[in-house]
Amino acid sequence: MTLVDRDFQGATGDAGAKKLTPAQDAAGGERPLIELRQVSKTFGTVKALQDLEVSIRPGELVTVVGPSGCGKSTLFNILAGLEEPDPGNILRLKGDSSTASDLLGKVSFMPQRDLLLPWRNVIDNAILALEIEGMPRAEARKLAMDMLPEFGLAGFEAQYPNQLSGGMRQRVALMRTFLFKRDLMLLDEPFGALDALTRTMMQRWLLDVWQKHKRTVLFITHDVDEAIFLGDRVLVMTARPGRVKLEQVVELPRPRKADIVTSPEFIALKKTLLEAIEEESMKSFQVAGH
Ligand SMILES: Nc1ncnc2c1ncn2[C@@H]1O[C@H](COP(=O)(O)OP(=O)(O)O)[C@@H](O)[C@H]1O
Ligand SMILES: [Mg+2]
Repeated sequence: MTLVDRDFQGATGDAGAKKLTPAQDAAGGERPLIELRQVSKTFGTVKALQDLEVSIRPGELVTVVGPSGCGKSTLFNILAGLEEPDPGNILRLKGDSSTASDLLGKVSFMPQRDLLLPWRNVIDNAILALEIEGMPRAEARKLAMDMLPEFGLAGFEAQYPNQLSGGMRQRVALMRTFLFKRDLMLLDEPFGALDALTRTMMQRWLLDVWQKHKRTVLFITHDVDEAIFLGDRVLVMTARPGRVKLEQVVELPRPRKADIVTSPEFIALKKTLLEAIEEESMKSFQVAGH
């Protein structure tokens, strides 16, 4: 039995006696939005992922941490539909088996690099995905204009990326991802390049918009504090080939305040996760021949 199965049972308790709703699976747990079973990915002679198991329920914010090069972005690319896993691997979307390419266009994502176009202003960068999808520009701009205040960008609609701070650029990229409404939102180290203070503010802000918009999010990071602060669950990946080493449920109450990071519960979780990550980082360090 996997940790995921145990988690489902734990969440449902005596659900056996209850009538199941269509959104529930046979075990009484909520049906996953997306599932990866035994997924591997090989690039030539490099095995990036091996037997990776990931399952995300609707409305969850799942964070993924792991050493550099363990396959986090590869996982992201598979879920975004940009990369197929090795043949024979199992992917399910709402219970239906699918290929990675079926997921293209069904998932909104923000890649690790900030992909703002320098010749487009804030509004026109934000509507890029909607425009590519075929929405008339005026309609898309209206949607984006309405969202500006919530993303802390009111009054900045006509500015160009080089006129914005790092935090603002990331909010434009996030706004683009939010505007492209899909069942699953993937974020690959979105705050990785920001200074510590801006980063903490962005995390708090992201939790606010996530709770308001009730989106399902997979968030990749190499920062343990960030993974705990944001996540309903944290998945720790092994060194390459990446698989899930530890799946940690985060039972910290929401809404989470900034000072939660000093609570004993937070520190205990951090200790557990750091131990797991350090073990893996050492392995990748040794493999690298240092
Ligand atoms: N397109 C590719 N071709 C060849 N090797 C790749 C490709 N993408 C990733 N890799 C390799 O797979 C491993 C995992 O990479 P990646 O998923 O980017 O890791 P992470 O995001 O965790 O740092 C690395 O060794 C990387 O060099
Ligand atoms: Mg990466």
